[in-house]
Amino acid sequence: MAWTSLVASLALTAAFSGVANAAATIPAKHLCPDGKNSASNPKCCALFPVLEDIQANMFGDSGCGDAAHATLRVAFHDAIGFSQHNPKSGTGADGSIFIFAEQELSYDANLGIADAFNLEAPFIEKHKGNISVADFIQFAAAVGLTKCPGVLQPPFHLGRVDAKIPAPDGTVPEPFQSAQTILERMADGGLTAADTVALLASHSIAGADDVDPDATGVPFDSTPALFDTQFYLETLLVGNKTLGGSQNKGEEDTPIKGELRLQSDFELARDPVTACLWQANVNNQALMAFAFQQSFFKMQSLGQNVAKMTDCSEVIPAVAKLSAAQAQAFFPPTFTSKDVQKTCILPLPHLPTKPGPAESIPSM
Ligand code: HEM
Ligand SMILES: *[C@@H]1O[C@H](CO)[C@@H](O)[C@H](O)[C@H]1NC(C)=O
Ligand SMILES: *[C@@H]1O[C@H](CO)[C@@H](O)[C@H](O)[C@H]1NC(C)=O
Repeated sequence: MAWTSLVASLALTAAFSGVANAAATIPAKHLCPDGKNSASNPKCCALFPVLEDIQANMFGDSGCGDAAHATLRVAFHDAIGFSQHNPKSGTGADGSIFIFAEQELSYDANLGIADAFNLEAPFIEKHKGNISVADFIQFAAAVGLTKCPGVLQPPFHLGRVDAKIPAPDGTVPEPFQSAQTILERMADGGLTAADTVALLASHSIAGADDVDPDATGVPFDSTPALFDTQFYLETLLVGNKTLGGSQNKGEEDTPIKGELRLQSDFELARDPVTACLWQANVNNQALMAFAFQQSFFKMQSLGQNVAKMTDCSEVIPAVAKLSAAQAQAFFPPTFTSKDVQKTCILPLPHLPTKPGPAESIPSM
């Protein structure tokens, strides 16, 4: 039996037999130089001072709010600067978005990313030497995700190599592009249609500052502080022009006042390639969270050599929990299954309608 599988089976035996002191069978943790934290791989020790600092001073007690949203979005925009076919498209999750901020932040698709830069830059500067820019961006996103109830424990591997070249304009998908164009760009970067749909769970904890010039913090679903499946349902509802929307580039008619619908989300929810993948998430919290966890790990490693990285997932704090009641998807007030614009032929689960008059969603 190979050593690794021996260790794994011993660890499993210990876990299942309820051994209280498993120190003899589980690989010993190394005490870190700080004298208080420990890690299976000493390389992971470098993350504890960064974690403590960003928890206290970058995220603070804002929960699944602006900082968690901003760190997640920039992690995607950095990582997708990559092509499996064209080395000039960038080197993936490589920190280039901040290292070459002067260039990359001028791209149309990166409008608003300056907020993430201003938030993260002082911490990157302070901890440089102990963590690469590339690792910091992905680490911050993973830590931010733990604040959003419903997320499954994000893995985190350390050891990304920082960029030597910027990503060119055009690697980040835009909300006015067709589903096909977006899926082709994602596939070129190494992400399948299933990955794309899974990763868009991020839009369940998101909103727009710059799509509608007259409104900031406009959420993409009615529960932007929860990593729940409402986003996948609400994007399928029939839109209503009189509620605002579709007058801006990349925006579609919204079903609910105060909610913003991206044209890209509208299209991916209805495109024959993605509609059933999309709909499968509705009221299936376990599927959504698992698929996101897997595709997020893939996204975080684009262009990087995972074999050379160190698994430091144990440093990521425990995730916030979603209650069973919060995991239940529902039609917003006044909506029923009749308002669903279905292209997937599979049945939609039966869902309750939230009681009350038509809602207006507050901005974030
Ligand atoms: C694939 C096509 C995608 C398109 C076209 C797209 C487009 C957008 C747009 C236009 C915004 C609003 C920006 C603003 O006006 O402030 C946004 C926000 C956001 N996106 Fe995406 N996105 C995509 C995929 C993703 C992925 C894969 C992730 C993460 C894994 C992500 C995470 C976010 C987050 C967290 C926000 C909210 C940022 C905040 O509130 O500060 N997006 N996206
Ligand atoms: C970087 O790591 C070293 C060694 O663990 C530590 O002494 C130092 O304080 C760290 N720097 C910062 C800014 O945390
Ligand atoms: C659209 O919204 C307006 C304003 O709330 C409402 O009066 C109208 O009935 C809605 N139309 C549809 C088709 O739901």
